[in-house]
Amino acid sequence: MSFSSFQHPDDFKRLRDVFEAARYTDAAILEVLGIKDIPSLRGEDVPLLLRRTNQGTPLDTLIRLFLIEVPCDRKEVQRAFQPMMLEKLAEAGLIHADGTRVKAAVKLMPFHGLLIAFDSTRMLQTERKKDYVMGIGRSTLTLANLTVRRQAGMSLDLGTGCGIQAFLAARHSSRVLAVDKNPRAVHMASFNARLNGLSHVACLEGDLFEPVQGRMFDLIVTNPPFVISPEMKYIYRDSGMEADQVCQKIVSQVPQFLNKGGYCHILCNWTEHAGQDWRERLRGWFQGTGCDVWVMRSETRDAATYAATWIRHTEKEAPEDFDRHFEKWMTYYDQQDITAMSAGLITMRRSAKGKYWYRADDAPEKMLGPCGDSMVRGFELQDFLETVREDSLLLNTRFRVSPDVCMERIAKPSVAGWVDETIRLHISRGLAYSGNIDSYMANVIVKCDGQRQLKDLLAEIANAPGVDLEKIRPIFCQVIRGLVERGFLLPFDSNTDFI
Ligand SMILES: C[S@@+](CC[C@H](N)C(=O)[O-])C[C@H]1O[C@@H](n2cnc3c(N)ncnc32)[C@H](O)[C@@H]1O
Repeated sequence: MSFSSFQHPDDFKRLRDVFEAARYTDAAILEVLGIKDIPSLRGEDVPLLLRRTNQGTPLDTLIRLFLIEVPCDRKEVQRAFQPMMLEKLAEAGLIHADGTRVKAAVKLMPFHGLLIAFDSTRMLQTERKKDYVMGIGRSTLTLANLTVRRQAGMSLDLGTGCGIQAFLAARHSSRVLAVDKNPRAVHMASFNARLNGLSHVACLEGDLFEPVQGRMFDLIVTNPPFVISPEMKYIYRDSGMEADQVCQKIVSQVPQFLNKGGYCHILCNWTEHAGQDWRERLRGWFQGTGCDVWVMRSETRDAATYAATWIRHTEKEAPEDFDRHFEKWMTYYDQQDITAMSAGLITMRRSAKGKYWYRADDAPEKMLGPCGDSMVRGFELQDFLETVREDSLLLNTRFRVSPDVCMERIAKPSVAGWVDETIRLHISRGLAYSGNIDSYMANVIVKCDGQRQLKDLLAEIANAPGVDLEKIRPIFCQVIRGLVERGFLLPFDSNTDFI
């Protein structure tokens, strides 16, 4: 990809106009292809997709070229790109025009109103694989969905790849810097920024924070090359550092670049070791950072499963070499006493206080829609819990049940009527936590209307025959803390309607 044939902003506008005129949008493509989401397209059946794009429309041609990645007839492609000349697109590195056939040189995907160029995974099977620029993958979507979307001044995307996180941040930032070590990625991200008319995104080449020395940000997002392996084959996957050191290094540098009150999200893989609690191991990473920290673990895989999954995913050049790769990866893990890897999101918020909290727990099973607001709410609720560490303070608080809570009840018939087997609470949007509770707590929760202090609700339970108030108080408080932490209960202040 090069800019040589795209010198003027009008060139980018003309290209964008071609895609707009063809209705090359998320919605239209999903409708034509009959699929649920475009990033998951790679697993689809090519003959089926070709059948669904056989009307010869410009949209069909662009989908075949840039998403299904099959060679197309030159005349059809020229028709789709009118009035642009194919030579200009070839010079820009978007297509290869060869006799009567045209092939895409990159993938071009619409994503939430943006048009994004990135490399085809086929590049991983070529000599140029090291510089492969990743597209919109599962990790991309996870980070994008969990990012706090508050209005920001300056934002930073570290390891920008095709630029997607930077462009999403650009929607709520005055200016965004996008850094990548891979010159090809910087090129691709710059091209994409211009294609989407995002003049307030600047793309810089360099190692981690090195190109932004001396600058401060309200938001930092990073999906770094976190894969834990003995390899240094692909810039997008391998950091060249031991085990999980790339994430540790980013964590240690964040405070120098994050404004007070600013958030930093780091998508991360970390190692687990026999006999060591992952929460305690990670706690050490944040000592002295001056940040409140929330580590949300999404999954843990034993070392062998982790190695096998990544080797199958990326080491495609010689599938028969699986055993050799696997042996090398497992030897590396054994040498470092690594038993498993966990994946998750680290969120750091730089704080002005002298005392910082650390929370490390499992992600909810479901995330329903954008989760940025739930992340902010999670930080606010943890701030509140820090102020009521003593049970007496917690019991003096008034709570109200979150409007996002709903209850699911499974009951069995008996002679006395329906008897509850399970009562389960769910949060219905964002970080959609869920969990079972007993009927006592279900009754307490529904009575949380912001009027009565928690101690009055506890006293009601304690009135039941055979209940010892002193005994249940600590357990009751512990359950309430868990419900607050996950956003089922919200502390209520009649002046502010919330904490
Ligand atoms: C997993 S990809 C993430 C791409 C994109 N941000 C996303 O969310 O899909 C990691 C990116 O980090 C870049 N990278 C690797 N090492 C780096 C380093 N030391 N400094 C800056 N960027 C780096 C890679 O080139 C790649 O584009």
